[in-house]
Amino acid sequence: MDGLSEHDARLLVRGGRRLEGEVVLSGAKNSALKLLAASLLTADPCVIRRVPRITDVGTMVTMLRALGAEVAGEDDALHVRAGAGLTGCAPYELVRTMRASIIVMGPLVARLGEATIAMPGGCNIGPRRIDFHIRGLEKLGARVDIDHGFIRVRSDGLRGAPVPLDYPSVGATENLLMAATAAEGETVIENAAREPEIMDLCAFLQGMGAEIEGAGTSTIRVAGGRPLHGVVHSVIADRVEAGTYLLMGAATQGRVSTLGLDPVHLGLFLAKLRAMGVQVDEGHERITVSRDGPLFPVDIATLPHPGFATDLQAQTMVLLTLAQGTSIVTENVFENRFVVVDELNRLGAGIETTGHHAVIAGPRSLSGTVVEAPDLRGGAALVTAGLIADGLTEVRGVHHIDRGYEDIMGKLRGLGADVLRSADGPRTGASTTASPPAGEVERARRT
Ligand code: UD1
Repeated sequence: MDGLSEHDARLLVRGGRRLEGEVVLSGAKNSALKLLAASLLTADPCVIRRVPRITDVGTMVTMLRALGAEVAGEDDALHVRAGAGLTGCAPYELVRTMRASIIVMGPLVARLGEATIAMPGGCNIGPRRIDFHIRGLEKLGARVDIDHGFIRVRSDGLRGAPVPLDYPSVGATENLLMAATAAEGETVIENAAREPEIMDLCAFLQGMGAEIEGAGTSTIRVAGGRPLHGVVHSVIADRVEAGTYLLMGAATQGRVSTLGLDPVHLGLFLAKLRAMGVQVDEGHERITVSRDGPLFPVDIATLPHPGFATDLQAQTMVLLTLAQGTSIVTENVFENRFVVVDELNRLGAGIETTGHHAVIAGPRSLSGTVVEAPDLRGGAALVTAGLIADGLTEVRGVHHIDRGYEDIMGKLRGLGADVLRSADGPRTGASTTASPPAGEVERARRT
């Protein structure tokens, strides 16, 4: 590691190469994390395949072990067994590292009738509340207290009930789905999130024996109280990873295909690419983009699925800096999700933000410099910008990118990008075939 900690690692990107080739997509981060948590619902072993090797998965594995579950892994499959030693206290150090850890709340209450979870920290993208999770669990009969920085949820037996959500929150829908599997009677989650990852979680729970109807719609019904058993399941492909590489292909005027994802999962995103003048071909679990002409400006507003995914907003802004005119991006899902804009502007973009709108003036030529990834998707946006910038771009804060992109160096090199991780060798900016260092997940898998 050249004496560098993971927090010091840098990605060096030499811009100007067209990306060409295929990317085999990893399993979706936002699904794998929830399936790992859902494994706590049974004492039987669960096997989850196509788990991405990313540090967020490593954090969730550490969390499951801290809760008393056994986790072992080989290749991209993780085996989880939450036997009699399961406890219900999720420690601060882990929840602080990854906000998604609060997803263990629903399964723990379902299984043990009790969960004590540290109040979350997580991504630097605005205050991320958990009031919908809490109110929903209360509707199912749980008692919730918040004290000394911990949320304590207790129940003497959950009861199914109608649970209307004020907003189709992904995490709240998932926590409630898992809690509802143990609630006597029927739970109806209204205004439920419709993300593909919710459907994957429902398929996992159904595989365990749960009775669920309406996955992928705004009304999900769970007939609770069915005994749950072990399951073997493969995680769906990561649509955000797919979108990121497709944007990189379009930005560099290359030709990039993603393999493994149903194009339906990226519907509006692909429509926007076409509106910008990008050629998009859709096949069975295959999406190909190419571009040889100019790009047109488009307006984008992020919304819950099937709207434009907020997780692709930052990367899409990079493509819009190349468009022949002005685009407006409106961020409706998270506050403070334009944190990468200052860094993009340091590379030469012309983006102005007012509240939740960003006005992107194009076309701009970018020139490489040192930039700092502010968060996971912002980090991916900076790498995308580096691919089209003149000269060398040094992206710092790589630990953010490691949270969610499996083997980004290998995949970029496979597409012909000139990239180097500083920990791989001397800082030359030249290509190398060295592998990136093993991350948390690898370490978790070996123990
Ligand atoms: C998940 C994804 C994240 C994605 C997001 C939206 C994971 C691990 N993360 O995050 O990558 O960007 O969905 O697609 O799956 N809110 C409340 N109260 C609540 C819950 C949420 O006000 O109780 C607000 C949040 O502050 C945010 C909005 O609702 O403004 C959306 O949040 P939510 O859909 O819950 O996102 P996450 O599940 O946190």
